[in-house]
Amino acid sequence: MDLPGHYRMTSPAVSRETTARSVDVADQHSVQTEQLGRPLFFEDASGLPNRSELYPTRAAVQATADVHVIDLADEFARRRAGSDVAIVGLGYVGLPTSLAFHSAGRDVLGIDVSHARLDNIRDGRVDLLPSDRVRLGAALTDDRFGLTTDATMVRTANTVMVCVPTPVDEQLAPNLAPLQEACATVVAQARPRQVIILTSTSYVGCTHDLVVQPLRERGFVIGEDIFVAFSPERIDPGSNGHAPEDVPRVLGGATAACTARALSALGGCTSNLHPVSSLEAAEMCKLVENTFRAVNIALANEFAEIGRELDLDITEVIDAAATKPFGFMPFRPGPGVGGHCIPVDPHYLLWQLRRRRVSAPMIEQAMRGIANRPRMVAERVRTALADNGTRLTGSRVVIVGIAYKPDVEDVRDSPALEIIERLRASGAHVVYYDPLVPSVRLPGGAVLESIRDPALADADIAVLHTSHTGMSLDWLMHQSLVLDTTYKFTGLPHVLSL
Ligand SMILES: NC(=O)c1ccc[n+]([C@@H]2O[C@H](COP(=O)([O-])OP(=O)(O)OC[C@H]3O[C@@H](n4cnc5c(N)ncnc54)[C@H](O)[C@@H]3O)[C@@H](O)[C@H]2O)c1
Repeated sequence: MDLPGHYRMTSPAVSRETTARSVDVADQHSVQTEQLGRPLFFEDASGLPNRSELYPTRAAVQATADVHVIDLADEFARRRAGSDVAIVGLGYVGLPTSLAFHSAGRDVLGIDVSHARLDNIRDGRVDLLPSDRVRLGAALTDDRFGLTTDATMVRTANTVMVCVPTPVDEQLAPNLAPLQEACATVVAQARPRQVIILTSTSYVGCTHDLVVQPLRERGFVIGEDIFVAFSPERIDPGSNGHAPEDVPRVLGGATAACTARALSALGGCTSNLHPVSSLEAAEMCKLVENTFRAVNIALANEFAEIGRELDLDITEVIDAAATKPFGFMPFRPGPGVGGHCIPVDPHYLLWQLRRRRVSAPMIEQAMRGIANRPRMVAERVRTALADNGTRLTGSRVVIVGIAYKPDVEDVRDSPALEIIERLRASGAHVVYYDPLVPSVRLPGGAVLESIRDPALADADIAVLHTSHTGMSLDWLMHQSLVLDTTYKFTGLPHVLSL
């Protein structure tokens, strides 16, 4: 079996040329550093915590029972003036972001409410690209990189970046609790001349509501004595092709001065910044990017259905269309979408529009279509087995790859979870094989462990859901029935495409 390289949604090569409005901030940053000479901290004495508050003794730190500290006292004793950058939320986005800042020579403090997360980071038990893993090793042995659960330490930083999750609840309404909590702390601890940058995807107006307005209520004049911006994340987990510092970054400030300060603060870490005119334009930019992807994935899924009806190999057709060097971007059909972006972000926009009694039928339809895919997969398993003379109830099914995309451990909103739940609810015996996900808790609470050798599963059907780089799939050649939800293995009689 010819095993193609794993499927990636391809996008046009991102130009590393600076766009007309982009700013090379490296110069700005060095100017700022020279002008300031010493850290901002000592210049703005008014309203600042005193030194003993900033650099607590070990005894004082250990006495704070609810704060888990990793060598914090030692670490901050070594610091001359707190951190340069504080990253709030060290997940899939925040951790690589903090490593990118650190490797750019910045003094970084990583803050996360989760003790377990910090322990995992310290032990290297985190899902990172190999290049970021190397960076983590270097950061953990450097006193310019600190970790703490004490969110009040944001006050020690010149720049604060907020990278906390922005999920939706079961009704698909935004769950803003983590972002509200993080912003409330940042606002409460804010001090003059800090630069505060929100990066979590959210609704349009969120930065104003959660940061700008509360800071005003504290008496700050935005753009004069404190600076606020929104700069959405564009991290591509699992992909080596897009290091954070190489990906152009959009940024909008609350005022022109905020934009300038935020551009300066991100300097050295990102070479290509694209300022926009407002916070809201930057917030909307992220929603446009991910809604665009959602709609195009839904369209690719629909074309896959059309291809099946017309007996056409949709992968061949999309590959052919992708030879057009302009006006076409290939999106691929699949079993659904997962992760923290596509199944979630467009709902922030739809929620905001619903409150204004505005509909967006194309986006709504796309999100419904995407959400229906796991159900379709389960149904296809049923009919494929029936065509082979096997009932779903009592059948043995192996799901191959359960992460939401290749080369990540992330199973958040992975379509595989719903597929497994549905098949189990129909009485199938379901096992899974995913070398990156040793065990998984299903939404219903059951915990499954990855089997070691799928070839020995003796399954009535194998469902290919995600193929990680290097994952051996040769055994599928000897499998009697395969349902390929990735649309990569075509032309083999025992392999059905979704
Ligand atoms: N994952 C992606 O591929 C991706 C890509 C682009 C943008 N984003 C956006 O970036 C944001 C973060 O996503 P993520 O995938 O990194 O989330 P995540 O769940 O992987 O990590 C978030 C981290 O924030 C921590 N946290 C939660 N509340 C906190 C608080 N109040 N203070 C400090 N830490 C807190 C959590 O413990 C967790 O470790 C989201 O808005 C998401 O939409 C994600």
